Order: sequence, then structure tokens, then C-alpha cells
Amino acid sequence: MIGLGVLVSGNGTNLQAVIDAVEAGVLDAEIRVVVSNNRGAFALERARRHKIRVEVLPNGALPSREDYDNRLVDVLMGYGVDLVVLAGFMRVVTPVLLNAFHMRILNIHPSLLPAFPGLNVQRKALDHGVRFSGATVHFVDEGVDTGPIIIQAVVPVFDDDTEETLSERILKEEHRIYPQAIQLFAEGRLEVRGRRVFIGDAPKVEGAMENPEVTILK
Ligand code: GRF
Repeated sequence: MIGLGVLVSGNGTNLQAVIDAVEAGVLDAEIRVVVSNNRGAFALERARRHKIRVEVLPNGALPSREDYDNRLVDVLMGYGVDLVVLAGFMRVVTPVLLNAFHMRILNIHPSLLPAFPGLNVQRKALDHGVRFSGATVHFVDEGVDTGPIIIQAVVPVFDDDTEETLSERILKEEHRIYPQAIQLFAEGRLEVRGRRVFIGDAPKVEGAMENPEVTILK
């Protein structure tokens, strides 16, 4: 069984989805440690409730970003982590972590990448006027939200959406696809060729999707 190290900074609803999937027996992995850069993250409380070990490594605890990641690597390796799962971890990782866990770091992002990388992306999607947005699980590389894409889920954007309603709709999909992607990794079914990720025995999806319901202005 593969060992996960989940890195968090905030609320931890994606961590919760992973915990729930493991406990439900649909994700064949063990969360060996949850690491936070933020002592006050509610995600830590979620981990403790499920008797998962936690470590706090505050921002600025070490002189440089590389020193920070070296410590992180030591912690993760110390717990026997095979796969690093970024779940709302608000730090850009350095090559120190990337090299130690080459193609063994996943991230979830609340947009259909490569549209809207970075922060405040639900706001950006609304402001841009897209008809669809969604969630993306991808391998992490040296860029910000640029790594090879594993799974995406699409949600409609409605005329009366706010940042909150859109975020909520996307988050629901995040919680569905993140455990799925981790399970695919655990089963050894992900093959990365350049930018593309091939999934062994993936079901084929036919057809296309159209605009969601729109308001007709009179
Ligand atoms: C999620 O929207 C995730 O995609 C983004 O940060 C948010 C974290 O939410 N990277 P949570 O802490 O998992 O609830």
C-alpha cells in the first residue's frame, strides 16, 4: 500500500475527502503524515480527529525556500511517504522537493488548467465570462499549476453565480476527483509521456458538452 504525505495550509476539505475515501475503502493508500505551514490550519484538526500524525513547519522557520523544502523532504521521507499530495498548500515548491519526489507530487487546482493558474481563480473565471470552469488534478512541476494533467472535471458557470457559489460547485468536484487520481497513481495506472498522462483502462467519454443555461436579456 502506498504512503501519502498530505500538505495543507487551510480548511482541509480536500484532505477530508482523501481521509473519507481511505476510510471507505475506495482509496488503497495510507496517510502517513499531514504537514502544514500554518499552525492554525483547520486541516490539522481534521487529521487529529482521525488519529493521523501531523507536523507543522511554519513559513519562515528556515532561512531559504530550499532549506524549507529540505526539511520537508526529511519529514516526508521519515514517515515513509511515497506520494506527496498538495491539498490547498499555499507555497510554491522548489526543485529540492521536486527532485526528491520526481513525478510523485500531485496538486488540485480550482480551474480548468491551463486557464486561470495562480490565485483567486474562481473570481477570474467569472470576470472572464467563461461558460464552464472546473477542477484539475495534475502532477507538480517547476511552474505554477503547469504540470501534466491527470483528471479534470467540468462545471457550468451560471449568470447569477458569485465567487462563493462557483467555488462551492468546483470544490464538490475536487472532492470527487482527487481521491480518484490518487487511486489511479496507487494502482500504477498513470503513465506520463511528455505533457500527456495516459491512464490504463480509462473509460471512454463520448460527445461534447454545450453552453449551460443562459439568461436571455429582453
Ligand atoms: C481548493 O480549492 C484547492 O483546489 C486549492 O485550494 C483550495 C483548498 O481547499 N488549491 P481545502 O483546504 O482543501 O478545503
